[in-house]
Amino acid sequence: MSTVQVEKWDSVPLAPADPIYKLTYAYKDDPFPKKVNLGVGAYRDDSNKPWVLPVVKKATDIVLNDPALDHEYLPITGLPDFTSAAARLVLGPDSPALLEGRVSSVQTISGTGANHVGALFLSRFYRWDEGAPRVAYVSDPTWVNHFQIFRGVGVPLETYPYYDAATIGLAFDRYLAFIKAAPPRSVFVVHACAHNPTGVDPTREQWAQIADVVLERGHYVFFDSAYQGFASGDLDADAWAVREFVKLGVPLLICQSFAKNAGLYGERVGALHIVSPSPEAAVRVKSQLAILTRSEISSPPAYGARVMALIMNNAELFEEWKRDIKTMAERIIAMRKELHRLLTEELKTPGNWDHIVKQIGMFSFTGISTEQSLTLTEKAHIYLTTNGRISMAGLNSGNIGYFAECLDKVVRGQL
Ligand code: LMR
Repeated sequence: MSTVQVEKWDSVPLAPADPIYKLTYAYKDDPFPKKVNLGVGAYRDDSNKPWVLPVVKKATDIVLNDPALDHEYLPITGLPDFTSAAARLVLGPDSPALLEGRVSSVQTISGTGANHVGALFLSRFYRWDEGAPRVAYVSDPTWVNHFQIFRGVGVPLETYPYYDAATIGLAFDRYLAFIKAAPPRSVFVVHACAHNPTGVDPTREQWAQIADVVLERGHYVFFDSAYQGFASGDLDADAWAVREFVKLGVPLLICQSFAKNAGLYGERVGALHIVSPSPEAAVRVKSQLAILTRSEISSPPAYGARVMALIMNNAELFEEWKRDIKTMAERIIAMRKELHRLLTEELKTPGNWDHIVKQIGMFSFTGISTEQSLTLTEKAHIYLTTNGRISMAGLNSGNIGYFAECLDKVVRGQL
């Protein structure tokens, strides 16, 4: 008999459940009729149902009924009609970087995949030795998944000041001072718009000041753009910071997701765009992105990219998409206004609630404590992350009254 021990995995520690997905699972299992899911950032219509964008339905029908449709592999770097349109969408059709051939675009497994490939590319090729510490800086707080994505590719994360709990707004002076003091050529992960989880974005004037310091210090900006169009209802307005930084010559890359703005959560449609100083560098960068993609997914999934390529390259469908985006953004903005009205006018909830209408995008950082967040879940069956973040898209005319009442009670210590 062999004395070799077979692997029992007994040294593998049990990992904690994902803090965002576990809320969805718990919500689904909860039989309470008035339960509310404000956890994951996924759009719901006013009847609390996932919304298939009418333009997506239309484009899907066209794609699936195309007699030329086959199921061959896409090129390693993705569907060219998709990646080129995706680049124009975020950078603007007249972007100098695009016109000069300085952008390397690859299709990714949505925004998460773009973050991963982008972080992996930096991990391999960024010249960390020339002054820059081998870390990337993320906002405090940030999307929880950033931590494991960067850790997974050997780039530890540290945080920069971002959110000011006292004002429930941007800690702008501390943010700027941090960028100024960071070693030259540091890597900063920045949310392009609709900051997740706070909903707090810099103003255009503040962005301009951030860009000045970033350029002066030679920092690298890793833009995470998951909410273009979803924040304000306007694709161009939400891409303003990215385009401005490109115009100013800030070295950067952009992670792009179509989960929220096209409601294509499950299809994993996204792209990574790296802007280089020269077209020659862009060719080299893209060749390496192809290797990274090939080793992980061989080539990306075709279906969602075909749907988005059709929508973005067809003038009529593109206009229809913009209207659908507005529908979602406007419903969320209406929920912000209604929640603010309920808290301030009807319930006269203690405290200042103006941040609810000032914040932008899918999420609102309510400013309530971890304990109060947990109480809402345990006593009122309202599911939200323990940092007090709520997904505004989970509110609707049927549940907003209940939510406001429970929030009011928890703030008063009466729940
Ligand atoms: C969220 O923060 O809820 C979304 O971005 C969904 C996710 O993947 O975490």
